[in-house]
Amino acid sequence: MTSRESLDRLFEYLRFPSISTQPEHSADVRACAAWLSDFLNGIGLAAGVHESGGHPIVLARNSHRADRRTVLLYGHYDVQPVDPMELWTSAPFDPVIRDGLIAARGATDNKGQTFAHLCGIASALEDGGELPVNLVVLIEGEEEIGSPSLPAFLESNREQLACDVVVISDTGMLGPGVPTLTYGLRGIAALEIEVRGPAIDLHSGIFGGAIANPITALARMLATLHDDHGAILVPGFCDAVRPIQAWEREAWAGLGHDAELLRVSGAPALAGETGFTPTERIWARPTIEINGIGGGYQGEGTKTVLPACAFAKLTCRLVPDQNPDTALDLLEAHLRRVSPEGVTITLTRGHSGAAYLADPHSGFGPAAQRALQRTFGGTVALIREGGSIPIVQSFLEILGVPTLLLGLALPDCNAHSPNETFPVENFGAGQRLNRVLLGEIANA
Ligand code: BES
Ligand code: ZN
Repeated sequence: MTSRESLDRLFEYLRFPSISTQPEHSADVRACAAWLSDFLNGIGLAAGVHESGGHPIVLARNSHRADRRTVLLYGHYDVQPVDPMELWTSAPFDPVIRDGLIAARGATDNKGQTFAHLCGIASALEDGGELPVNLVVLIEGEEEIGSPSLPAFLESNREQLACDVVVISDTGMLGPGVPTLTYGLRGIAALEIEVRGPAIDLHSGIFGGAIANPITALARMLATLHDDHGAILVPGFCDAVRPIQAWEREAWAGLGHDAELLRVSGAPALAGETGFTPTERIWARPTIEINGIGGGYQGEGTKTVLPACAFAKLTCRLVPDQNPDTALDLLEAHLRRVSPEGVTITLTRGHSGAAYLADPHSGFGPAAQRALQRTFGGTVALIREGGSIPIVQSFLEILGVPTLLLGLALPDCNAHSPNETFPVENFGAGQRLNRVLLGEIANA
């Protein structure tokens, strides 16, 4: 495949609005899976679309030989919603190249990164007709909604999916051209709070003062989650947190990542829990984040109502050795304890998954580092990251194998934001990385 062809095919892939969380896009998600399966068949793998109960899973494999290592390449073809639309410079599902960057929803997270590997595989198959390893490709359509169907699929297809190691490019690089191996990810646990007061929105002059206001109640509850210095106040929540190792503190301090965070975020200053550097807070400390809040009148001007209800959507980022169910038990108990009189609260759990932590110096870690070094040159940065790919821990628990996280995303790629991009250069580097990596794993 020429680089023009691989870009053309990537653009076809990016044109599917495969937004997993929005039911109105479920046909687009399916069409994307079918296209991907056709592509994989076209490059010489045996591919198919598999029902999962939710959005389908695309599987592909070469013909396996008993004397070779088996690599499972994982990625996701689903993407995040695109709102706010008005902030996009070009349409999210009409990919273009601007200043060397591929701009589209999914360009980085995760279509571009995964597709780089697939093009690397395609070119190896074209050149020699064979890969150095047995390959299983698994690309799912539910990562951005917490992979609800995939663990059961892994359980019931253990033999088909048996492998020595999982390879994923769905994480970041420390900076342009900096070879980066991620050895830890945070876990996640989602909770929605609904606070109900009066049966309907009331006149705030007639009732205000004698009836509890659900938004005030919610605001007071949310304000009890952290102290004035950013530390989590939910009793017991941080008890299981594994301390940061001395070598990590030292290595992370020299990465210059704090300054980069401030630059990329566009925020006026960094903030967070005292006693930890910004990088430590993101890579190795838990958070309780308020992702959304609502209730009452949101239109123009004023409307004097005492609202009937309010809601907030929370997600906790978890670190080793926090258990997602325990974390939510503790958070729920705390919220019930601090909920004021005069309102009723309903707590609804969403998706959850545990954190992941591997030793980058053992197993296939050194092979991954050699592959990164050969592809990019320079010194390989060993990092943890704050994002979550919950299925990584499930690969370990269900298939019994570790995962190599070789990210190709840049800090300013706008994943999940308007104007998501992926450098054309990283798309090419990812293809080369795939070929070098499969060779290193075969010989490790
Ligand atoms: N690619 C990300 C995960 C990621 C982001 C890892 C940044 C490392 C650094 C993935 O697609 C993602 O967004 N995951 C979700 C998972 C959630 C919806 C269960 C996340 O982290 O919010
Ligand atoms: Zn994502």
